[in-house]
Amino acid sequence: MSTEPKERTPLPAVPGTDPSRCMLDSYRIAIAQMVADALGLTVEQVYPGVQYGKKGVDFTVALPRFRLPGKVDDLAKKVIEKFQPNDYVASVQHDKAFIHFMLDTNNVTRDILTQIHDLGDKYGTNESGKGKKVVLEYSSPNIAKSFHVGHLRSTIIGAFLERLYKACGWDVTSMNYLGDWGTQFGLIAVGFEKYGDRELLEKDTIKHLFDVYVKINKDAEADPQVKVDAAAWFRRMENYEPEALEDWRLWRRLSIEKYASEYDRLNVHFDVYTGESEVSQEGMQKAVAKLEELGLVEESNGAKLIDLEKHGLGKAVIRKRDGTSIYLTRDIGGTIERMEKYKPDKMIWVVSSQQDLHLAQFFKILELMGYPWAKDLVHINYGLVQGMSTRKGTVVFLEQIIQEATRSMHEVMQKNEEKYNAVEDPEMTSREIGITGIKIQDMAAKRINNYTFNWDRMLSFEGDTGPYLQYAHVRLASIGRKNPELLPLPPRNEIQTDFLSQYGQAREIVMLLGSYPDVVLTALKTHEPSGVVTFLFRLAHAISSAWDVVIVKGEQDKQKATAKMWLFESARVVLRQGMVLLSIRPLERM
Ligand code: ARG
Repeated sequence: MSTEPKERTPLPAVPGTDPSRCMLDSYRIAIAQMVADALGLTVEQVYPGVQYGKKGVDFTVALPRFRLPGKVDDLAKKVIEKFQPNDYVASVQHDKAFIHFMLDTNNVTRDILTQIHDLGDKYGTNESGKGKKVVLEYSSPNIAKSFHVGHLRSTIIGAFLERLYKACGWDVTSMNYLGDWGTQFGLIAVGFEKYGDRELLEKDTIKHLFDVYVKINKDAEADPQVKVDAAAWFRRMENYEPEALEDWRLWRRLSIEKYASEYDRLNVHFDVYTGESEVSQEGMQKAVAKLEELGLVEESNGAKLIDLEKHGLGKAVIRKRDGTSIYLTRDIGGTIERMEKYKPDKMIWVVSSQQDLHLAQFFKILELMGYPWAKDLVHINYGLVQGMSTRKGTVVFLEQIIQEATRSMHEVMQKNEEKYNAVEDPEMTSREIGITGIKIQDMAAKRINNYTFNWDRMLSFEGDTGPYLQYAHVRLASIGRKNPELLPLPPRNEIQTDFLSQYGQAREIVMLLGSYPDVVLTALKTHEPSGVVTFLFRLAHAISSAWDVVIVKGEQDKQKATAKMWLFESARVVLRQGMVLLSIRPLERM
């Protein structure tokens, strides 16, 4: 029997599709062509109506969407009567207002596995963002305050969006906009004079600054003079007095170093570290002047504010009475500067929904200022995380979160002594699994949902958890190790795949693999990681169901063993791609 894939019947090109990256596009076009021919429509008209079917059905077309005259049943009859199986579609079925289509299993299996092999790491990527640029701000913690779970969520979702935009061909600049400016730094400066310790600062920067901040805050409650001194100090900082900035500069540098190494553990890397301190005074003054010129500014008790009531956004203060800048003004000036510097097509902020009003205000103010790009600013928000603490108490630092995940995972692993001893680097492994647990818990549901941080649930190997996903990958990675005689796989056109069609489990895997490029495109539209997470679990479950049926080890027929191996290898590639898209580092062993 020939193993060369036959040339498939050529299909018309449909704008917005790309069969060279998404094999199922071809199959959808073939379906659209059948329906179009039967109903006198164009392929372009029908194509968007070709949707994934319910369980047991590959694709479905809902006839009413075409708004054609006549009864739905008659339309359906036309399609069914004209139907001829071809290279792509094997059968049709009429079901009320719907027509269901089943693809040719042999061909779709062969085509999808071949495409995954040919594209490798590129499988799932597309060029929809080619030539476009995005500036993506995420994480953005405040120096000397706690790195709370809100920042962790921004970090996790942002790291996903960074990879997602890149996978879709965008030029991405990722940015961490540190909270490194504002009256509280005057307060810390005053506190540092009293409680600061340079050695502790070097050793444990983030914690020490936080301790100083907590102490001086307490003092300020008892003694109003502390706040007066702090405000005076911050004014000197805003005047760029070198002595007033010297310590602050050191705190900032040390904090960034510390954060960078923790981000590294999370597999997160920023192109740019900037911060509120880097927004120029001049830029902000110009912005305020422009707003005044436009007649948008009101004075109130010496402060300046913008009335956004008629936009349902309240009143926004842009200058304090003492003339110092505030968070909002820095975002206005900062965005203008970002736009001038990077000239992106789009700017994204990944910030908690608690700041919905703040972002809506500065987006609106920029729009009122007449910037045409104000429409290209996007706020990606997310809900709250409740109840995160370690056994030792409340968590305030990123480092504690990572440590706790590692420690808990390490304990779980130690329970299985035999396996534990087989793992090369248990510390690294438990950290990666722990971090995967945190990330998956965070991205499993829609962004806007609140969730409760639950160490036990997220670190369990049962259910749809991060550890389970890592386990699924490790298991796939192990097939190669356990069947070395099958590797490397022969040239793909020599592998006979048709016999895989007898396994429903293989077909399910293939169809899921084929849908991955669509999963990526949908994620880009919705900015939701949850669709990718759901896909990965569906894939992991399908693989697990195939495990005892589509057996590699023990398959006597080498041809067949090879084809099965290819199937699992393709599944591994896609599972891996999806995990990487979520910023997870897939493990080879655990
Ligand atoms: N540092 C801020 C906070 O922790 C978040 C910054 C969000 N980004 C922005 N451009 N405002 O609340």
